[in-house]
Amino acid sequence: MATKVRISDYRVNQYEVSRIFIDRWSPRAMSGEEIADEELFSLFEAARWAPSAFNNQPWRFVYAKRDSEYWDQFFGFLAEGNQAWADKAAALIVVISKTTFDYNGKPSKTHTFDTGAAWENLALQGSKNDLVIHGMQGFDYDKVKEELSLPEEYKVEMMIAVGKPGNIKELPDKLQGNEVPSGRKTIKEIVREGEFGF
Ligand SMILES: Cc1cc2nc3c(=O)[nH]c(=O)nc-3n(C[C@H](O)[C@H](O)[C@H](O)COP(=O)(O)O)c2cc1C
Repeated sequence: MATKVRISDYRVNQYEVSRIFIDRWSPRAMSGEEIADEELFSLFEAARWAPSAFNNQPWRFVYAKRDSEYWDQFFGFLAEGNQAWADKAAALIVVISKTTFDYNGKPSKTHTFDTGAAWENLALQGSKNDLVIHGMQGFDYDKVKEELSLPEEYKVEMMIAVGKPGNIKELPDKLQGNEVPSGRKTIKEIVREGEFGF
């Protein structure tokens, strides 16, 4: 049975905001079940509608489902710390951004930023669909670039574990205590009027 976490026990908003933002978090407990393509592609659909400079849409996604021939290779990209829990994911996604504009071939200043917006769209949709969506930077970036034969103008940004929610008690012992939604800096710590002053 998947463990239910009451988000409001851990997260309090300072101002009115849609629940969608507060309810998204990054669990690690997953069940090991597969997901249908419809569920997976709902995530990419959400990502597709992100805004980007010149509408360049620099985000690219390459995925491996756990029942596919690509799974072992993608799982092998991950650092040990992430392998310890991501073995129950239904899919692993590599997020890549195109560093140049389609229309003139010149470098984009915001390709990573734009792709970050797409990732968050994906994560919010996954949360809404009751999936675990967990971003990762703990993997071998060079290995991914090489093994996926990425052309020079593409940059590996992150990986994502996607899965059905699982039981916290089935996580490795040392991860069980961390399996709660995290807090945030206060508004005062991140916002200033007119002057930088941080
Ligand atoms: C780009 C990125 C990389 C991350 N890398 C890892 C990672 O390698 N391993 C991990 O367990 N969590 C990773 N996380 C999850 C963050 O630790 C998590 O998002 C953060 O603590 C905030 O918690 P929340 O997502 O539950 O709100 C990553 C998140 C992002 C956005």
